[in-house]
Amino acid sequence: MTDNPATQRTPLTPLTLLGTGAMGSALARAWLAAGHPLTVWNRTSARAEPLAAEGASVAASAAEAVTASRLVVVCLLDDASVGEALEGTDLSGRDVVNLTTGTPAQGRARAAWAQERGARFLDGGIMAVPPMVGDPGSGAYVLYSGSPGLFEEHGETLAVPAATRYVGADPGFAALHDVALLSAMTGMFAGVLHAFALIRREDIAPKDFAALLVEWLSAMAPAAHMTADELESDDYGKDAVSSLAMQVAANATLLATAEEQGVSPELLTPYMALLERWLAAANGAEGTTGAVELLDLA
Ligand SMILES: NC(=O)c1ccc[n+]([C@@H]2O[C@H](COP(=O)([O-])OP(=O)(O)OC[C@H]3O[C@@H](n4cnc5c(N)ncnc54)[C@H](OP(=O)(O)O)[C@@H]3O)[C@@H](O)[C@H]2O)c1
Repeated sequence: MTDNPATQRTPLTPLTLLGTGAMGSALARAWLAAGHPLTVWNRTSARAEPLAAEGASVAASAAEAVTASRLVVVCLLDDASVGEALEGTDLSGRDVVNLTTGTPAQGRARAAWAQERGARFLDGGIMAVPPMVGDPGSGAYVLYSGSPGLFEEHGETLAVPAATRYVGADPGFAALHDVALLSAMTGMFAGVLHAFALIRREDIAPKDFAALLVEWLSAMAPAAHMTADELESDDYGKDAVSSLAMQVAANATLLATAEEQGVSPELLTPYMALLERWLAAANGAEGTTGAVELLDLA
């Protein structure tokens, strides 16, 4: 039987993955399920063994794993563990994609470090938890920044476990976007915890309240577009629909309610204090966007 060119498939890119913790294992399974030849390494080898049964080659050392494929994905605990694992490996000619969470400065330093060793480098920030990886409907994506050539060449392979969003050639940008999004999420989770603290001693079902909460937060989230518009136009009053003066006055009611309900206001007060400082310095008819200036330590 002769091969029909129409049904011939381009061989899938082989790759190496260093780190088979919770996230690394989820990534590995997505690549294996898609049919990519995969070599894995983990410091504690027992944690890589289950992947062997699913088709991965388990390397005995990080150096051996790096030698196995040109594309090397790293998903370890932190930047220090990346340095430890890659020390003594031969990175020349490798395409290193670091999906380990780090700071922007760590991303830039790691990129320079990898380039000095002859590798192209892409940093990534995973916007997902492990069960979302490999599920195209989950909304999971990975932010990438660094070598545009590497991203262009391996974009299809990188898109297997989660959608990809390239945010620039600066290798610090993936981490910066990642941490900025996580920081906003942190504020949201703090607000959610405070809200539940207010209602939890009353005859209010948390599940009923959660439905209202999600609806309200979803309705408020697009306000970030107005903040961006004001920042880009350098006009803090441009889109103000709720004035700074009104919001500072309303904060007194939030604090009084916390006291009535016997709830510590500790998650709210730093933000409220910032708005009060900004009201003392700015036009109370504007919104809250300008308070960003008070956060600038430079
Ligand atoms: N899990 C999530 O929800 C999630 C979401 C987004 C991003 N991330 C990021 O993904 C990365 C991995 O997270 P994870 O959930 O997979 O963590 P994890 O389950 O704790 O796995 C950590 C991995 O790092 C390895 N490791 C730690 N220190 C090391 C060292 N000094 N040298 C070599 N290997 C070392 C561990 O090896 P051993 O097995 O030998 O300990 C393991 O493979 C982190 O940067 C995390 O921030 C995770």
